[in-house]
Amino acid sequence: MLQRYDALVVGAGGAGLMAALQLSKQGHVAVLSKLYPTRSHTGAAQGGIGAALGNMEEDHWEWHMFDTIKGSDYLADQDAVEILCREAIETVYDLEHWGLPFSRTPEGKIAQRPFGGHTREFGKAPVRRSCYAADRTGHMILQTMYQQCIKDDVQFYNEYHVIDLLVEQGRCAGVVAICLETGEIHTFQAKAVIFATGGFGRIFRVTSNAHALTGDGMSVVLRRGIPLEDIEFFQFHPTGIYKMGILLSEAARGEGAILRNRNGERFMERYAPSLLDLAPRDMVSRAIYREIQEGRGINGANYVHLDFTHLGRDVLDKKLPDITDFVRTYMGIEPAKELVPVQPTAHYAMGGIPTDNDGRVVIDDKNTPVPGLYAAGEAACVSVHGGNRLGTNSLVDILVFGRRSGRHAADFIKKNEFVPLGANPEERAREMVQRLTTNNGKERAGDVRGTLQDEMMEKASVFRDAKTLSAMREKLHEIRDRYNHVKVEDRGTKYNTELLEVIELGSLIDVAQVLVESALARQESRGAHFREDFPKRDDPNWLKHTLAYLGPKGIEFKYKPVKITKFEPKERKY
Ligand code: FUM
Repeated sequence: MLQRYDALVVGAGGAGLMAALQLSKQGHVAVLSKLYPTRSHTGAAQGGIGAALGNMEEDHWEWHMFDTIKGSDYLADQDAVEILCREAIETVYDLEHWGLPFSRTPEGKIAQRPFGGHTREFGKAPVRRSCYAADRTGHMILQTMYQQCIKDDVQFYNEYHVIDLLVEQGRCAGVVAICLETGEIHTFQAKAVIFATGGFGRIFRVTSNAHALTGDGMSVVLRRGIPLEDIEFFQFHPTGIYKMGILLSEAARGEGAILRNRNGERFMERYAPSLLDLAPRDMVSRAIYREIQEGRGINGANYVHLDFTHLGRDVLDKKLPDITDFVRTYMGIEPAKELVPVQPTAHYAMGGIPTDNDGRVVIDDKNTPVPGLYAAGEAACVSVHGGNRLGTNSLVDILVFGRRSGRHAADFIKKNEFVPLGANPEERAREMVQRLTTNNGKERAGDVRGTLQDEMMEKASVFRDAKTLSAMREKLHEIRDRYNHVKVEDRGTKYNTELLEVIELGSLIDVAQVLVESALARQESRGAHFREDFPKRDDPNWLKHTLAYLGPKGIEFKYKPVKITKFEPKERKY
């Protein structure tokens, strides 16, 4: 089945919706989403969107820029970070004008609160920069953006899962997708395609990520010869609900909640004496694990406590209503009175599909673009987060770079014609589906995925070294072999979610392999990538971005320089 649009957006989270809005003003645009749009993972972002509005105290985008670069452990591209922090401000006002119900100051301005790593005067003290709607900011953004898209007649193909990218004459020509409802394969021809497919936190056992975050877009482009950038940098958010990984927003610590070890100590005093619990996430997550390793976890187990008890009911009810409800619902704990067990939870991919500052996908160390192909949001690596993202900057990223990619693509579709499709554009997708649905092996997708998640958690998460990563490399060979013997029991075509799970598992394995190989290659510690055997940052050798390609014999690497404009790399102290 063939459909034709000027432009396609794959993914209906904040980045995809923002891009679609821009494109809808220029041409015929469709959004393909494997979920109903308002179930996208943007809805799970809680604590706020960072912008130097200065509503509560003095603030400047330059301070935001400095914090983001320092937080990134100097791996972020500084020209891109400047765009992020400058454009954050008008983006937040756009949201306000579109009706987003922000929390307010008594005078009626957008309320702001502190968040990890955000400071005034280049690191002097925490600043209130996160604009929030209680602890439902992402949910509100998603609803607001979706309403705008409906108003602008954006066409949605919900529950369409993209499984291949079409490239003809070196240009992006469209995508191939499977419709979940019918099982039919569809070709979508387009002049421009924007991948906004989100992250891949489901490679780990304990994660804040929704089940749908399986790295699909990244895997699709990787299989078509496009590299992935800086995948070794994966963020663990310090405060997931113990064992479940459900996010308890950093807004909790922004509002004054404190991390405590088994002795009741505020242990962050030893790791980040100036920012304490509001140090960047890579540092806080490592500090929690160090406490646990040194025997100061609670009851000898893998967790510490988050203490809300001094905040008072009013703050909990007005500013943190959702997360305190999660604690009551999932743990049976009353956070106003009791301490809450937390552990770091796999949260966010700093790396992704490499792009330039207009969202154009670039394929090499010279930033050569693939005409017509774009990426935005967590699926992309611009790179504004470098080795470690600051809280609130993901929502800024999806909107600022969702908009820039949408605008650039809108211009592109105006100036370019369709590229003719090859003779059989669906061939690869059909072969894949045929192979997966006729396999009579003995493996179950859920078992293989469980092994992948447990092993990645143990061997490639917050702490790594050559031994654990090499062991994970070997495990991945076994896991891939088992994957090749996975049987899809459901041989039907309608809503075959089992087939979808198997396709997603293939993506998870691809991205996990890139993560492990990139982490093995990078012999230093920087941001969220911490090598016990190379515990120091090594700028002379490693101040560069990884580009990982799927070659005939496995993962191959190129590297490209980091763009430094205003802030020379320094030692990171908080
Ligand atoms: O902690 C949080 O509310 C998460 C925010 C983020 O990842 O930016």
